[in-house]
Amino acid sequence: MTEPVLPDLESARVDGLSALIEVHTSENLALWKTAHLGKSSPVMLALSGLGKLPADIRPRAGQLANQARQALEAAYEEKSAAIRQENLLRTLEDDRVDITLPGRPARRGRLHPAMQNLRDIYHVFAEMGFQVFRSPDVETDEYNFELLNIPAHHPARDMWQTFYTTRPGVLLRTHTSPGQIWAMRERAPESIRVILPGMCYRYEQITTRSEIQFHQVEGLMVGRNVTFADLKGTLTDFARRMFGDSVRTRFRPSYFPFTEPSAEMDVECFLCGGAGCTVCKNAGWLEILGCGMVHPVVLSNGGYDPEIFSGFAFGMGPERITMLRRKIDDIRYFWGNDTRFLEQF
Ligand code: PHE
Repeated sequence: MTEPVLPDLESARVDGLSALIEVHTSENLALWKTAHLGKSSPVMLALSGLGKLPADIRPRAGQLANQARQALEAAYEEKSAAIRQENLLRTLEDDRVDITLPGRPARRGRLHPAMQNLRDIYHVFAEMGFQVFRSPDVETDEYNFELLNIPAHHPARDMWQTFYTTRPGVLLRTHTSPGQIWAMRERAPESIRVILPGMCYRYEQITTRSEIQFHQVEGLMVGRNVTFADLKGTLTDFARRMFGDSVRTRFRPSYFPFTEPSAEMDVECFLCGGAGCTVCKNAGWLEILGCGMVHPVVLSNGGYDPEIFSGFAFGMGPERITMLRRKIDDIRYFWGNDTRFLEQF
């Protein structure tokens, strides 16, 4: 009787190892594993068939089979690590970030020209004891008109084309004057010295001289014995501090429903010094604000007894002033968001 044959574990081992040389991807490695270490691979079949071998060759066969399995498993681990490493290197290579590219330069921001001008104005009035007082952009007809002595259907409403909202009586303020009422109702019966800066909105055709939104700076002083002389003195002083000591000013009579008497203040044209030029349209003067003594009706709407208290108010459009000072010929530049314009200031 011939000796029972030992399974050919040596060639199973050699075949497996040489096949592994050709494996370079994790997919192929998985296929290799099934073929050489899977349940029906020669080595695994030999191991599971050990029990059926005659007892005398069983130990030797077991030893050979285990050695073959260990050799294949070790080779598998080694290959698997090598493929992982290779994949990692490839990813690093492919996803490489070129850190030598120059970055985009960070652009420095700056204050908007309108804000620069507002701050100049705050500064001048702060030196004269005026505080900044904020009031809402969204107003009621009552505050924007009625309490300022402009009843419905009053012809003076034509001075303010208005954005009404879908809610009756609610609108975008057309001027900062409703802030006068807010300030008075908050401070009465104390005396008041405030400026009220803010955005105003008018429903009108946009042209080089008018926008649907623009800033105003309102001013309000209320107290005992406040006179027109105080108004003139304060505003003349403001003009000097803002435009230079030698600037001349003049007051012209005007009309506003919420002031009596009312006036407009002109400053001497800072471009031509009064000689006449295109900016002042040969007048030599530039109109910069409306003003007047607070109307008694408005004072009492604000909570002050007009027999005891008096006050003055004024309102100016700082964009207009900036346009004149900087020779800007179109008000639309202010809110056009064009950095080529903004960078010049
Ligand atoms: N509110 C006025 C306007 O928008 C300006 C103004 C303010 C006039 C205060 C007098 C007093 O034209």
